[in-house]
Amino acid sequence: MKLTTIIDIFNKKILTSQIIFINAWVRNKRDSKIGISFIDIYDGSCFKHIQVIANKDLKNYKKDILQLTSGCSVCIEGIVQKSINKDQLEIYAKSIKIIGNVFNPETYPIAPKSHTLEYLRNLAHLRPRTNIIGAITRIRHFIAQEIHTFLSQQGFLWISTPLITALNTEGSGEMFCVSTLNFEDIPKNLKGKVDYKKDFFGKKTFLTVSGQLHLESYACALSKVYTFGPTFRAENSNTTRHLAEFWMIEIEAAFLNLDEIILFAYKMLKNIFKNVLGRCFDDLIFLEKKTNTNLINRMQQFIVSEAFFIEYTEAIKIINNSTNYFKSYLNWGEDFSSEHEKYLSDIYYKKPIVIKNYPKKIKAFYMRLNQDQKTVASADILLPGIGEIIGGSQREERWEQLNLRLKENNLNPENYNWYQDLRRYGTVPHSGFGLGLERLLSYVTGIKNVRDLIPFPRTPKYANF
Ligand code: 4AD
Ligand code: MG
Repeated sequence: MKLTTIIDIFNKKILTSQIIFINAWVRNKRDSKIGISFIDIYDGSCFKHIQVIANKDLKNYKKDILQLTSGCSVCIEGIVQKSINKDQLEIYAKSIKIIGNVFNPETYPIAPKSHTLEYLRNLAHLRPRTNIIGAITRIRHFIAQEIHTFLSQQGFLWISTPLITALNTEGSGEMFCVSTLNFEDIPKNLKGKVDYKKDFFGKKTFLTVSGQLHLESYACALSKVYTFGPTFRAENSNTTRHLAEFWMIEIEAAFLNLDEIILFAYKMLKNIFKNVLGRCFDDLIFLEKKTNTNLINRMQQFIVSEAFFIEYTEAIKIINNSTNYFKSYLNWGEDFSSEHEKYLSDIYYKKPIVIKNYPKKIKAFYMRLNQDQKTVASADILLPGIGEIIGGSQREERWEQLNLRLKENNLNPENYNWYQDLRRYGTVPHSGFGLGLERLLSYVTGIKNVRDLIPFPRTPKYANF
């Protein structure tokens, strides 16, 4: 028995009058008085559902078909035909086998009606059954696939950077410790401190906040590389754009400077949007209506736009001139809040922007010091409605400067010895950036909260399912 999927039917891979078998779930059912049931089924292969016509002549019509409820799984044997009045495809059933029933149809939490995303978040194991999570899941998949394809075509090699690391890439203290020590009986050294020598790796280790440092080692040999995987941050940020576990694509390229890598980031984003528009159109049309956002148009606009750069110093001036929006002044050297970012991109410029050359004090130690000695060659890409989706920089390739920057950031240069080797042996200018997958998805789908854009979200005080 060769199985068919709904997408095959709509892609016209199925000739009418040919017998097909399809496994699916019931979304909805309507029984007519004359003994015909109309069963709406879905199988996740595409946004569309298909209607199954079940006639009372089916041998299990009374026993099974009339009892079918939303959520039941079925195997259908039938013929694809055009519906009489609507010229739509439907399946005329020859037999319907019930695979799994729903225990209590009255209390089935995913009844076929509109549920709020907040409600669904507490049903993370059942929410994939909804249209909205189905649409998001397909888009997430196609974007991930497209990123690998695009980067490979551009000559980038995929590097699996480690998830367990002893280094803090971003230089800040927001990491999850990885340990097998017994918390009830922690071994102490002579100084009374935790004895990490007794721990699994013989040293203190963490879940990675970024694969960048390891990626640089490969970029400084193979020129163009990337990593794509989960990233962990133990920051206590309860916002709609932060997750404790999120997915990041990090690109690293030798011999490129800051502007060149940001232009490449634009090229990659354009390619992603082009592809998602081509492959997920039905999902996007549905999400446009759901989120009341002009998703398709804004991606089309992005595709034909040029990267628009502004200096950090200029952005500070704009914010300080907008006294209607912000009560307090922002001093040069302070970081932008998400409100500032939204103001700049959503309200002032009303378009995607790239802010570059941030003060060194608010950026990581590895960014290249500019000639002014105050700023670093860094750039963030901000999108309307989201804020920062990409953070990138040119890396400090000069060994002496890197050493100074480590010390300035109170990091022990000895711990970064292997990283410094990349500057000791045939150093090259190189640059890279990180793109948060869930934030990108937020732009593509119009869904504001990143918790709805990853299958099982992990956030402060929340690791259910
Ligand atoms: O700006 P970030 O922290 O940059 C880095 O990690 C660099 N090492 C990247 C590099 O140059 N290779 O993070 C990059 C992106 C952000 O712009 C954002 O899209 C996303 O990762 N991101 C998060 N997404 C969800 N939840 C969080 N807590 C995030 N933190 C960062
Ligand atoms: Mg950043």
